[in-house]
Amino acid sequence: MKAVGIIGLGKYLPKRILTNQDLEKTVDTSDEWIVTRTGIRQRRLAATKEATSDMAIRAAIGALKDAKIKTEAVELIITATTTPDMQFPSTACIIQSALGARRAACFDVSAACAGFVYALVIAQQFVSRGVYRNALVIGAEKLSSIVDWQDRNTCVLFGDGAGAALVAPVKRGGIISTYLGSDGSGGDLLLLPGGGSRHPATHQTIDKRLHYVKMQGNELFKLAVKIMADAAHKALKQAGLSCKDVDCFIPHQANLRIILAAAKRLGLDTKKIYMNIEKYGNMSSASTIIALCEAVKCGRIKKGDIVVLDVFGAGLVWGACVIKW
Ligand code: COA
Repeated sequence: MKAVGIIGLGKYLPKRILTNQDLEKTVDTSDEWIVTRTGIRQRRLAATKEATSDMAIRAAIGALKDAKIKTEAVELIITATTTPDMQFPSTACIIQSALGARRAACFDVSAACAGFVYALVIAQQFVSRGVYRNALVIGAEKLSSIVDWQDRNTCVLFGDGAGAALVAPVKRGGIISTYLGSDGSGGDLLLLPGGGSRHPATHQTIDKRLHYVKMQGNELFKLAVKIMADAAHKALKQAGLSCKDVDCFIPHQANLRIILAAAKRLGLDTKKIYMNIEKYGNMSSASTIIALCEAVKCGRIKKGDIVVLDVFGAGLVWGACVIKW
């Protein structure tokens, strides 16, 4: 088994900024409510014609350049997304074609906000066993396409963006431990009911607004705090480490209060947390990878640092991953 790590990172954020003040004009909300309840001040929105793959391709090009790997050398592309360009072909295949990565095997992973960590763990399995020499792991979302812009409970929370990581064998450090979990019985707490085989698109499903995100925020909040703390604890324990050893903690960015409460439960110094929720809101599978990319580029993560990714999302699904940088 080879040690596997991340050797290149890239991100893409669409240009358009939607502030809380902009939202005040369209739904019954206020900047004060959004900031105090969530920590979000603004989010990015993709252009109308910009699909998830368009953002993912930009992030992927950045990661390949950073890793100094040619597109033709990419052997596996895994895209974590809840907002694929279409039901099929997979967004990973669309990205492959645009990149010209003809050697790569491609598929998407559906694990909502935990998607990037799920995809990273899958990539690690393939690369550590030598099945593939590298893997391009992408988290990309156009959540603005599934958000109900009339629903103040959800529309203030989400944003669009994409991040990518090139996963390959490393001589030092790399992924030390991983932990994944699920509880399908909590599926009703956060879902998009329309458009699948249960409720194929009809005039009625559109009238009932079934093609938009439905969420029970309060219930999710409590579960997210408990589960994220537990997942990080399990991954650290498996690595033989404790919170004191962590240099940078990158949680899923759904709500500032969830992040702080989970950190408190873990006994983690909040100075160790990297957050970008204020600027981007919740970008589901793109959140942690964009945060990781930013933390590395701005020097918050240095060689030899212990980094923890900790995620939770619809499914319910969750996971954590300890990486020595
Ligand atoms: N602006 C103003 N008021 C709002 C509002 C908004 N954007 N959204 C909801 N409210 C209102 C509610 O209608 C409710 O009013 P009521 O008491 O008159 O019924 C009140 O604010 C409190 O709502 P509540 O849901 O209890 O607020 P909260 O403190 O739980 O915060 C969330 C709501 C959604 C921010 C919070 O529950 C959350 O972040 N949940 C987790 C979401 C999550 O993690 N999702 C993704 C998982 S990856």
